[in-house]
Amino acid sequence: MLLLGAAAGLLLASAASAQTELFHGHGQIIVLNGSSFVGVVPSRDRIGCLNDQGILTLDNCAEFALADASPRTFSTVSGNCTFQNKNMPANSDSAYGRDSHAWSCLVENQLGPPYENYYTVTGFKYPFICNGNLNCYYDIKSTPSPNNTRVPVWQFYWGDAQGGITPGHVQTLWLWVPVNTTKTTKTTKTTRT
Ligand SMILES: *[C@@H]1O[C@H](CO)[C@@H](O)[C@H](O)[C@H]1NC(C)=O
Ligand SMILES: *[C@@H]1O[C@H](CO)[C@@H](O)[C@H](O)[C@H]1NC(C)=O
Ligand SMILES: *[C@@H]1O[C@H](CO)[C@@H](O)[C@H](O)[C@H]1NC(C)=O
Ligand SMILES: *[C@@H]1O[C@H](CO)[C@@H](O)[C@H](O)[C@H]1NC(C)=O
Repeated sequence: MLLLGAAAGLLLASAASAQTELFHGHGQIIVLNGSSFVGVVPSRDRIGCLNDQGILTLDNCAEFALADASPRTFSTVSGNCTFQNKNMPANSDSAYGRDSHAWSCLVENQLGPPYENYYTVTGFKYPFICNGNLNCYYDIKSTPSPNNTRVPVWQFYWGDAQGGITPGHVQTLWLWVPVNTTKTTKTTKTTRT
């Protein structure tokens, strides 16, 4: 299913070769409701965005820094980002992901092998974020709301016994939205008269 989706996405290659060029520097990570790279519409399918600890929120969008060289890892003001912090909640509902931990960007996260190398795919219509061997989907148990402000995000694991998203959960994509650091840096305005 994942591979079929990727193949369909690659067919769009000629229409969108700019995605990999957008995937560098600083940006926000928007979480979209979607189980296919092809049908997702960012403006319609937005669920929320990741905060500086790597947690899904409605609107608390952090600025992520993406490493220029491989392994292309993420960090924020709160620290390095990884799925490997065992203090984060496990996806206990998932058949294949029950031992996996939610993403986090924390000062305690010391990155080491196996590194998570993040990338996007030229054929995508938008710069969706993948890692590993075409892991381009992410698993959430609920969507953020004013009463549910911090939602953990897991990698999407699947297999013969559970081919789709964890029952009751939502399959999502991560969209990279570059931030113009020149513009967002706060500067003191001096007015000449
Ligand atoms: C996700 O999209 C599907 C169809 O595209 C829709 O049925 C479902 O309600 C949406 N889920 C959320 C949480 O937005
Ligand atoms: C990120 O991980 C690297 C490698 O372990 C480490 O040297 C660095 O201090 C970490 N950075 C932060 C901000 O935690
Ligand atoms: C959200 O929380 C408020 C205040 O605690 C409560 O009145 C409201 O019913 C809650 N909404 C939902 C959907 O749970
Ligand atoms: C970023 O913003 C600066 C200042 O507004 C502008 O000069 C520059 O062209 C922008 N860069 C991009 C890549 O949008």
